[in-house]
Amino acid sequence: MLAVTLAAGCAAAGDEGGGGSGTGGTGPITFATGRDTTAYLQPLLDRWNQAHPAEKVTLLELPEAADEQRAQMVANLQARSSRYDVLGLDVILTAEFAENGWIIPLERGLFPLDRFLPPVVETALYKGKLWAVPYTSNAGLLYYRTDLVDKPPRTWAELRDQAREITKKHDIGGYAGQFLAYEGLTVNFSEAVQSAGGEIVSRDGGEVTLDPATGGTALDFLIQGVREGWIPKESLNYKEEESRLAFQEGRLAFARNWPHAYGPAKAELGDKVAVTRLPGLNGPGSSTLGGANLAVSAFSKHQQTAQEFIRYFTSLENERRVLTEGSFPPVWTELYDDPELIERFPYLPVLKESILTAKARPVSANYNQLSLVIASSVAKVLGDPTPESADDVAASMKSELEEIIRTQ
Ligand code: GLC
Repeated sequence: MLAVTLAAGCAAAGDEGGGGSGTGGTGPITFATGRDTTAYLQPLLDRWNQAHPAEKVTLLELPEAADEQRAQMVANLQARSSRYDVLGLDVILTAEFAENGWIIPLERGLFPLDRFLPPVVETALYKGKLWAVPYTSNAGLLYYRTDLVDKPPRTWAELRDQAREITKKHDIGGYAGQFLAYEGLTVNFSEAVQSAGGEIVSRDGGEVTLDPATGGTALDFLIQGVREGWIPKESLNYKEEESRLAFQEGRLAFARNWPHAYGPAKAELGDKVAVTRLPGLNGPGSSTLGGANLAVSAFSKHQQTAQEFIRYFTSLENERRVLTEGSFPPVWTELYDDPELIERFPYLPVLKESILTAKARPVSANYNQLSLVIASSVAKVLGDPTPESADDVAASMKSELEEIIRTQ
């Protein structure tokens, strides 16, 4: 393994100096990341550990939900704790963590960024610097039951008609996604807005671009499902895990989920499961760009080992395993074009297209506040899908978002 020169000094993106020790030490490290719900990580980490007995990595699993992962990381970093060395950072967190000096800038030349999917690399950059290394990408897919669906839907109207029909004939729920009030709902609602041709907040986080009529159309798609029952009521409590289980246990005909649900669904349902692009208002929809990047804590005492570990964990060899063992979308472009992998994961071309056409969430150090407003407004109306008009809900969401951007 090549020795890594540190981008020492740990300058933060903002005016605040990074609090990092910047000592660049080597030694055992801790990798803090969201819960490993499909239990694929430890064997991958064991390979590193065998080769690096003096620099072993310990997995520290944070909660499953994106918001709770963030909360735990923020608490740790605000306390300037050296407990976490490598952070599995949701793509939405780069700006906030860089701006606060909680992670250190990395030297671009050390990582094969030009071989990664370009939109994925973008998520790791902030104010011209690289703050993390892409590890997994993510795009939402529509899972469906091939034994119940003749032709996969391309539009919301087709999805609605098929879901209505199937739930009438069979004892099964129609459609669900991640509808609990948390980051997952922000993702699902952003996808609905994009898939109706709109956007909620500009990419640079500086302007609320939501058109209330488009927002209303997107909301109506979900409201109608809940009202008519083809979106089951219990799905208003679903995060990724609950929707994955509901689908793989045969309780849903259609589900929106990330690709990591594919392996387990295949294991349970075999040929009865397939995936396609998310549907939209007038044709195929567009996904929100998800994923995780690996960053080095500014308070880590073993930053050199942390960076070497990141080089290993994002290498082509390991990324192949991230796909084959974890069914997570790798970041290396060439893996999407590998015939052997395509045979085993037939959705790879659809996934590549979904990632390349996905929309990133706004880059903002206050992203979390924006997202809380989006998720809570949508959850409120889905929980009580009757009183206000959807356009009014979208209009008041818009003004709350504007208020946050104005006062930040
Ligand atoms: C997935 C995505 C992540 C997103 C989260 C929302 O983990 O990779 O980007 O924020 O889901 O629940």
